[in-house]
Amino acid sequence: MSEAQGLKNQGRPVALVTGASRGLGAAIARKLAREGYFVLLNFASNEAKAKELQEAIIKDGGHAELCGFDVSKSEAVAERFDWIAKNFGGIQVLVNNAGITIDSLLMRLKDADLEKTLDIDLKGAIYCTREATKQMMRARSGSVIQISSVVGEMGNAGQSAYAAAKAGLIGFSKSIAKELASRKVRVNVVTPGFIETDMTGALTEAQKEAILRSIPLGFLGAADDVANVVSFLASDQSRYITGQVIGVNGGMYM
Ligand SMILES: NC(=O)c1ccc[n+]([C@@H]2O[C@H](COP(=O)([O-])OP(=O)(O)OC[C@H]3O[C@@H](n4cnc5c(N)ncnc54)[C@H](OP(=O)(O)O)[C@@H]3O)[C@@H](O)[C@H]2O)c1
Repeated sequence: MSEAQGLKNQGRPVALVTGASRGLGAAIARKLAREGYFVLLNFASNEAKAKELQEAIIKDGGHAELCGFDVSKSEAVAERFDWIAKNFGGIQVLVNNAGITIDSLLMRLKDADLEKTLDIDLKGAIYCTREATKQMMRARSGSVIQISSVVGEMGNAGQSAYAAAKAGLIGFSKSIAKELASRKVRVNVVTPGFIETDMTGALTEAQKEAILRSIPLGFLGAADDVANVVSFLASDQSRYITGQVIGVNGGMYM
């Protein structure tokens, strides 16, 4: 038996999608599974949803396994990546998608909400990238895709903590794209605009109408619009692309 046959992925490339239980992460995981990746489905608390997705992927002929952990806990992240190395031989693609937003005007922003947002949206992505790229550097290949936001590029009143985290992700990614390029590890950022998921489901009709007026293409995006770009950035078709920020926003920010 070859070494690859002894591993759970049986030679298939491995992709970890954080926050895969819902929304964009679930669509990205489904798309990568269709492209032939063995997909590790991360979630924080929603194990039932992640399990449903795993079953749907398997029914579709794909391969996936649950991989729950809190991205904001650095020790839990390191333990999980050790588990990945032992059971799957290493990771080829990391999609840092897990994220939250706690909206507040700056004058009312609570320390705890600021910390939670930075811990999950920025530090969580940094912890996962640090562990994943150790494995990718050894393999001399890999692709990291950060899911930032148009809000990190253009700002949004009431979302300063979220914007700080999402803009931070851009500076972080450009820096490590430079650090890792010589090892053929690529790092890119996707900045979605308004996409229909649970996160935007909380908007009122009036808010949605105002947003639609600011989108030149005139409609909210679908999760698959983001998943298609992530799949391209994961693949060799984008082998000459690193350190880039790619907007998927209907023209909202140019
Ligand atoms: N929707 C949009 O319009 C939009 C626009 C721009 C950017 N984005 C970004 O795209 C990403 C996904 O957004 P979404 O709309 O799909 O969000 P969502 O529907 O609210 O889903 C968030 C996902 O993140 C997971 N998560 C939250 N905290 C976590 C933690 N500490 N550790 C691990 N996983 C955690 C959740 O897991 P559980 O289910 O277990 O809680 C869930 O799977 C986010 O980073 C968001 O900022 C979204």
